[in-house]
Amino acid sequence: MDKIVVEGGGRLVGKIPISGAKNAALPLLAAALLPSGASTFKNVPALADVRTMAKLLRMLGWDADSGGKDHTLTIAPPTGKKKPKLEAPYDLVKTMRASVLVLGPLVARYGRARVSMPGGCAIGARPIDQHLKGLEAMGAKVTLAHGYVDVEAKRLKGASIMLDMPTVTGCENIMMAAALAKGRTVIENAAREPEVEELGLVLNKMGAKVKGAGTPIITIEGVDDLQPIEHSIMPDRIEAGTFAVGAAMTKGDVLLEGARPEHMDAIIAKLRTMGAVVTAEAGGLRVKGGDVIPADITTQPHPGFPTDMQAQFMVLACMARGQSVIKEMIFENRFMHVPELGRMGADIVITGRAAAIRGGKPLSGANVMATDLRASASLILAGLVAQGKTEVLRVYHLDRGYESIEKKLKAVGAKIKRAKDA
Ligand code: EPU
Repeated sequence: MDKIVVEGGGRLVGKIPISGAKNAALPLLAAALLPSGASTFKNVPALADVRTMAKLLRMLGWDADSGGKDHTLTIAPPTGKKKPKLEAPYDLVKTMRASVLVLGPLVARYGRARVSMPGGCAIGARPIDQHLKGLEAMGAKVTLAHGYVDVEAKRLKGASIMLDMPTVTGCENIMMAAALAKGRTVIENAAREPEVEELGLVLNKMGAKVKGAGTPIITIEGVDDLQPIEHSIMPDRIEAGTFAVGAAMTKGDVLLEGARPEHMDAIIAKLRTMGAVVTAEAGGLRVKGGDVIPADITTQPHPGFPTDMQAQFMVLACMARGQSVIKEMIFENRFMHVPELGRMGADIVITGRAAAIRGGKPLSGANVMATDLRASASLILAGLVAQGKTEVLRVYHLDRGYESIEKKLKAVGAKIKRAKDA
C-alpha cells in the first residue's frame, strides 16, 4: 500500500492547476443514465471515486470504458440485446456511498432500481431516508430487505417535497428522478451547493426543465425523454480550498488555476480572517499567506462554511497564536484527524461538536493515518509545516478525492513523495 512522505518546512510558491470537482462528477456520471444516447464529460478528475462510479455504470450495462483518459469519459447506454442491470451491489456501495446516486435515474428511466443500503461510515451515520422519502412522494414503492432498498414505479409523478435537511446527494437523486417524472416536482429546503447547481445546468442541457438549482427551492417540470450531452466539469472548490490553506499556512504565494471564487465565498472569508491575502485573478484565485490569526468556524450547508474544509482549517488554526473554536454541524463524527494531529503535538480539545484549538505550538512530524478523505488531506497539510518527517498512511483515502496531490504540491516547492509502505 502507498504512503505519502512529507518533510516539513518551506513555502508553497507557484501555480497549482485545479482538477474537475469530484462531487460534481459523481452525480453527473449518474445523470448520464437518463438519456438514450452517449454523453461525454471533459475535465473529469482522475480519482478512485470516479473510477468506482464508472465501474458501477459498467456493471449496470453502460459502456464507461474510456476510464478518464485525458480527463474525458464517454458513457453510452446498453445497445442491442444487452439489457440494463438495475442493481448497485453491496461491494461497490460499501466502497463509495455516492453509488446511491444511480437510484433516481434508474427508477425514473427504467421503473426500478435495487441499491445496497449504505451503512454508517467513518464520518457519521449518513442515512438515505430523505432520498427515499422524495422517491416515495413521487409514487415509488420502496421496500427494504436483505440490506437492499428496492424502488419501483411505473412512471414517477411530480410531487412537493420538503427536505428535513438540505442533503446534497438526496437533492441530486430527487432532481434526476423528477427530470423524467410526469408533472411538476418542487423541492423545498434544497441543498444550494454549486455541484447541485451544476447538475441542474447539465439536466437542462439534456432537455430537462429545472429551475432554481442553487437556491432553496428547485422546481422541475418532468419531460418524456432526455438527450445526450457533452459537458466540461466545474473545478473542485474543496481541492482549491485545501491548497489555499497550504499556501496560507506556509506563508506561501500560490495561484490556484481555474478555481472559481464565486463557489468559495465562505472559504475565502475565513482565509482572510485568518491572515491570508486572497485575490481573484484572471487565471483563478491567488492566496498569499501571512501571520496566522485564530478564528471561530462553524460548518453549515452551502453557502455556509463547508464541512469538507473543516479538517484543513483546523490545521491552519494550529498555526495561529491563540485559541480557535471549530464546530462541526453537518456530520456527527468528523473529528478523526484530531487524535492524529495530537500525535503531531497539536493542542486540541473536543467537547461534543466543538473542537478548541490552542495554536502556536510547533507541530512535529510523525507517522499518521486517517479513515476519511478530508482528514487525510489535513494530515498532509500538517506535514508541510511540521518539524521533520511525516508519513501519511492509508493513502487510498486521498486518492479518492485528490488527483496527484503529491505531484501538485511538489511542483510548488513541497518536499513530498509517494512511497510504498512496508
Ligand atoms: N442526511 C440524513 N438523511 C438523508 C441524507 C442526509 O439524515 O437522507 C444527513 C447526513 O447524515 C448529514 C447531513 O444530512 O448529517 C448532510 O448530508 P448530505 O446528504 O448533504 O451529504 P452527502 O450528500 O452524503 C455530500 C458530499 C460530501 C459532503 C456532504 C456535505 C458528495 C458525493 N458527497 O455528501 O462529500 O461532505 O455532501 O456537504 O457530494 C467529501 O467529498 O469528502 C464528502 C464527504
